[in-house]
Amino acid sequence: MDRIRIVGGNELHGVIPISGAKNAALPLMIASLLTDDTLTLENVPHLADVEQLIRILGNHGADISVNGRRERQGESYARTVHFTSRNIVSTTAPYELVSKMRASFWVIGPLLAREGKARVSLPGGCAIGTRPVDLFIEGLAALGANIEIDGGYVNATAPAGGLIGARYVFPKVSVGATHVLMMAATLANGTTVLGNAAREPEVVDLAKCLNAMGAKISGQGTSTITIEGVRSLSGARHRVLPDRIETGTYAMAVAMAGGDVILEDTEASLLDTALEAIRRAGAEISETNNGIRIVRNGAGIKPVDIVTDPFPGFPTDLQAQFMGLMTRSSGVSHITETIFENRFMHVQELARLGAKISLSGQTAKVEGVSRLKGAPVMATDLRASVSLVIAGLAAEGETMVSRVYHLDRGFERLEEKLTRCGAHVERVSD
Ligand code: EPZ
Repeated sequence: MDRIRIVGGNELHGVIPISGAKNAALPLMIASLLTDDTLTLENVPHLADVEQLIRILGNHGADISVNGRRERQGESYARTVHFTSRNIVSTTAPYELVSKMRASFWVIGPLLAREGKARVSLPGGCAIGTRPVDLFIEGLAALGANIEIDGGYVNATAPAGGLIGARYVFPKVSVGATHVLMMAATLANGTTVLGNAAREPEVVDLAKCLNAMGAKISGQGTSTITIEGVRSLSGARHRVLPDRIETGTYAMAVAMAGGDVILEDTEASLLDTALEAIRRAGAEISETNNGIRIVRNGAGIKPVDIVTDPFPGFPTDLQAQFMGLMTRSSGVSHITETIFENRFMHVQELARLGAKISLSGQTAKVEGVSRLKGAPVMATDLRASVSLVIAGLAAEGETMVSRVYHLDRGFERLEEKLTRCGAHVERVSD
């Protein structure tokens, strides 16, 4: 199994190209099931999760072709992928596939809307929290679906004439449930109004793509989204938006290691709150015409408290990385996780590098230390694993991160992007 070896101590200097967003690409790919026409997505990142979803969509009858041409020589493998689901050959998403990736549960929306039925395995819990699906079930039921849970599967059936537009207010903000209800409502009879909807940029990107396919969605990016149902959707061509979590991760890596890096093909407005926290920690951040420049020269890292929240708050997907940064701050910081109840598994691994962190409920108290020392550590989930890489960049000696498959789910060619900027990071295959 691959491991990542980091020898800390080098500053980062250069340019890092930011990939298309994993968390936008996944729902966009799933949206292709809504039409018998071809949906072409550009800037699709090459990640394990994307490959897994390609297999899942294939199981439903999607014909998928990948144009692997490099968009920029030697820099980005961003791909253009064509999805055509002329016929849905199966409305069942089996346990073996859904259990590997929670987002695959989201096929329930398009399958139900287009075929009138879907049988999708419950995704089950996962390392970062219990992550139930009650909001999906309640929301789809509001659109008229009859839903039964049996033998670990959600069996959903639409009324004879199809789903019916309705007003549904989410009791809690959910990115996935917003994606699914928005997709399902595009083909419903009548108008759907979603209240307390997620405002994440990935929701906006999905709405933009659905509108290009002929949907009538407005209000995306606010907490009230209105969807006027249409009879059918057509194909479209859409470019996946930049990955704000990858952007924030590399910004934190530079803040940690020091140096001067341009993050290319991204937008500061996607992560204002996180960039502000990095600024307060002592890095200089400015916008360039095609991205963000981040500099930390000499100045130490200051302690900053953060609380994760739905967009536009501080993203939970950057919490572990920010904790990595705070381990070297000059004081005490508090990091509070409000989205997932068990998203602190990186704490014990960071401690192996010499970090001083104590947990009290949903808050971690991080007492900055003047030095971290490399050690063998284990990746526990996608974002937790990259926090260990960030810490490793500033640790003395060698940090060896095992279970790298977690990283490969969401970071495209991480070691190459960091090495090009002068870091000592390599993949070791046993
Ligand atoms: C998305 O997950 C992201 N995944 C996650 O990124 C991200 O951490 C999360 O949103 C929050 O921003 C993708 O986009 C593929 P939620 P999602 O539904 O949609 C609770 C990563 O590392 N909830 O917004 O599954 C839930 O338990 C991943 O890239 C219910 O209670 O998250 C959580 O506490 C990890 N009932 C909260 O809502 C439900 O039916 C927010 O979850 C659904 C969710």
